[in-house]
Amino acid sequence: MQLTVFGASGKTGQQVVQQALSRGYQVVAYVRDPAKLSVTDANLKIIQGQLNDLDMIKGAVTGSQAVLSALGPTGKEASDQQISLGIGNILIALDELGIKRFIALSTTSAQDPYDIDSIKFRLRRTMIRKGSPSSYEAIVEYTELVRQSECDWTLLRIASLLTNASLTRNVQVGYLGRDKFKAKLSRANLAWFMLEQIDSTEFIRQAPAISN
Ligand SMILES: NC(=O)c1ccc[n+]([C@@H]2O[C@H](COP(=O)([O-])OP(=O)(O)OC[C@H]3O[C@@H](n4cnc5c(N)ncnc54)[C@H](OP(=O)(O)O)[C@@H]3O)[C@@H](O)[C@H]2O)c1
Repeated sequence: MQLTVFGASGKTGQQVVQQALSRGYQVVAYVRDPAKLSVTDANLKIIQGQLNDLDMIKGAVTGSQAVLSALGPTGKEASDQQISLGIGNILIALDELGIKRFIALSTTSAQDPYDIDSIKFRLRRTMIRKGSPSSYEAIVEYTELVRQSECDWTLLRIASLLTNASLTRNVQVGYLGRDKFKAKLSRANLAWFMLEQIDSTEFIRQAPAISN
């Protein structure tokens, strides 16, 4: 089975690629800079392309049964502004090619109807919005695009500080104000849980928050 991974050169994206290859998937990695992707494998195909190139994106997802996005803002305004366009193009490609499963990263900057909001969460959002406005806007905007799409999407909203700690397969998944979350989330666990979603219907058209 073939997967396409966007944001494959990122710190989480590389975990997704490595773990997907370990699980025996054929992986197509779509990246803007192949030099940043250190993984090599006979079952890995790397495609260099930009997020505004719909034809390249269509080529990258052709033949894949599921598409994963580890794309996320890096705090650079011009780059962050491209993410929604890119996610929009991925969604167009999935729709046109009839690919249903889409699993993407988001963060708790994007609220969910199941969250129970509070002053604590509002303050946190305000701090992020003021500290990194382009990142905040990108996350809110592209999360909404995914929600409005017709595909079988799952958004995993990062609720904590990302770390490079080892894989434990131990994650808390739920909604702000209802469930408890830890202060940290390892990228290895995040990537593992993204891959677990491929064959799971539990969180289809849902956007739970996640931590270790
Ligand atoms: N660090 C934390 O504690 C924390 C906490 C909560 C949420 N987050 C968010 O979680 C996300 C994932 O974290 P991470 O550590 O894996 O981030 P990362 O290493 O910065 O990965 C982000 C990925 O998105 C890609 N990307 C961003 N803008 C792009 C653009 N305009 N065109 C093409 N590709 C683009 C990057 O490509 P390149 O490799 O080419 O740059 C990279 O592959 C990040 O967006 C971060 O903002 C982080």
